[in-house]
Amino acid sequence: MEELLSKRTRYPTSDAMSKFVLAQDPEVISFAGGLPDNNLFPIEEIKLCQEEMLEKEGKIVFQYSSSIGDINLRGWIGEEFFIKWGKKVPVENIIITEGSQQALDLIGKLFLDPDDYALIESPGYLGTIQAWRIFQPKLVGISQDENGINLEELEEIIKELPSPPKVLYVVPDFSNPAGTCLPLERRKRLIEIAERYKFYIVEDLAYSLLAYDKDTLPPLLTLKDSEYIITIGSFSKILSPGLRTGFIIAPKKLIRPLRLLKEASDLCCGTYAQKLIYYFCKNGFLKNHLEKLRKIYKEKRDKLREALENYFLNKATWNNPEGGFFFFLVFPEDINCYDLAEKALENKTSFVPGEEFFVNGKGKNTARISFSQINLEDIFEGVKRLLRAWEDLQK
Ligand SMILES: Cc1ncc(COP(=O)(O)O)c(C=O)c1O
Repeated sequence: MEELLSKRTRYPTSDAMSKFVLAQDPEVISFAGGLPDNNLFPIEEIKLCQEEMLEKEGKIVFQYSSSIGDINLRGWIGEEFFIKWGKKVPVENIIITEGSQQALDLIGKLFLDPDDYALIESPGYLGTIQAWRIFQPKLVGISQDENGINLEELEEIIKELPSPPKVLYVVPDFSNPAGTCLPLERRKRLIEIAERYKFYIVEDLAYSLLAYDKDTLPPLLTLKDSEYIITIGSFSKILSPGLRTGFIIAPKKLIRPLRLLKEASDLCCGTYAQKLIYYFCKNGFLKNHLEKLRKIYKEKRDKLREALENYFLNKATWNNPEGGFFFFLVFPEDINCYDLAEKALENKTSFVPGEEFFVNGKGKNTARISFSQINLEDIFEGVKRLLRAWEDLQK
């Protein structure tokens, strides 16, 4: 039976998700998932929107939609999503996707043949690594410092590659897992580099609207009308992942091939969720909802930082996430975080070993600790359990 499976199924994908993130034991206090807090879904507002939507468009929402997505939602994204940075995007450049994971899959299909070079910030988002590995490219990690991707290293690596890279993936705001933010100067230089060497930057704005300390810096898309920028976004963290809705904004010449690939893949996205999101946004609920999310996630971030300072001060170092969902811990080289994660499960807590986010086998001494889903009052207890796991590992 195995021999009937295609070659692409043999590419290593991670079982970290099922093992650590989706651990079902209710006694586990989990820092593993990058999931939004279940208690924050705006159910009352959604009910109102649903009622209005069914009354006005009941016959449409149960029908197929177009493959590029609902015109109203695309219009709202184009008019409103980037407005705080003074940018409107033409609706023709926007495609709605089933979560940004589908956007990553389509971008992989669009550019990557076996052995093509694809670059990713390192550590980088596991969802991207998983989506792109299927296409069998040579995935190369570009290291991050506390301010995101290292541009000197990027240029050096590009010069050394036997053929130019086709794409580079970055999360400019509150990255997953490192929690880093790319400063303005680096954003501008990154665009220059992409234009010089002619590859596409794929910027992922999954967390960009979840800033806790100060305003988010402008996305690359708003800094320059460049033919080398593709932007992807998602409603998963700012509204609901269950609605499985994201988007791609791409230069016009890429829209037709993307649409054809999307038609081959799903022949239309689900209409219901897209319309519901449109009603939620156009009724002004998203703005208030984001304010609530920022307040609550900030409290959790602060509490987790306090707990880490209490229990892990001389044992690991970590970043200071100004938004998003993640602390990224770096332990001394002799700590293997896979082993630590096993001990953590025995002690009824969990996190994702950082190694999962590297394409080059590095990061064995790192850990991604998320504060998004955990209850505020469980944070200290969870970190205490983590400390017990660390002590068990020393025995
Ligand atoms: C960097 C990044 N991009 C995108 C997403 C959201 O993916 P989706 O829109 O498929 O739910 C996540 C969720 O973990 C993420 O961390």
